[in-house]
Amino acid sequence: MKRLVVGTAFLAFLGLSACTREAPQSSGAVAMTPGQIVAGRQAAFRLSAGNLQLMKAAADESGDAKAFAGPARGLAKWAAALPGMFPEGTGPGAVQTHARPEIWSDRATFDQKAADYEAAATRLAELGEAGDMAGALRQWDAVRASCGACHDLFRAEDRPAQ
Ligand code: HEC
Repeated sequence: MKRLVVGTAFLAFLGLSACTREAPQSSGAVAMTPGQIVAGRQAAFRLSAGNLQLMKAAADESGDAKAFAGPARGLAKWAAALPGMFPEGTGPGAVQTHARPEIWSDRATFDQKAADYEAAATRLAELGEAGDMAGALRQWDAVRASCGACHDLFRAEDRPAQ
């Protein structure tokens, strides 16, 4: 019983640690370097850019709006995780990145852009699941616009070729 209580307290501690922005670098249980965090988010961005193109190609080819559904759910999941991939200490002063310092000085706007992206991708998944091709094609443009709306404010210009 005692062991159970201690175990539960430890799990609660882990849960709390995971919620703080500094946790990935400072927590003893989970340790990632700033460079690893940047590599992870850049990889996710690249994979999502490929995903965005491939879902459209698959829908065009098959004529089936359902081709949008699974990939769009994936984008929405990434969009929800995205803010957590920008903890303090992973900005341009600390590490090689194309993230702009405004992410940390105007966090509310950055988080809102990620939320807009998540909502747009979720809507695309819903339209795809409903088999609404015309709606899904329009929403695909809206998802792309949500990428650009964040990049305009928060991504450095000297980015790598895509
Ligand atoms: C909430 C803000 C935000 C949204 C939304 C967003 N991005 Fe980005 N994106 C960034 C930032 C910031 C970087 C720079 C990351 C870094 O270098 O650490 C980036 C980098 C990238 C990169 C370059 C990755 C590399 O190899 O260095 C690609 C490609 C990209 N984004 C594509 C997309 C696509 C496609 C979408 C939408 C489907 C999207 N992004 C949505 C903020 C965003």
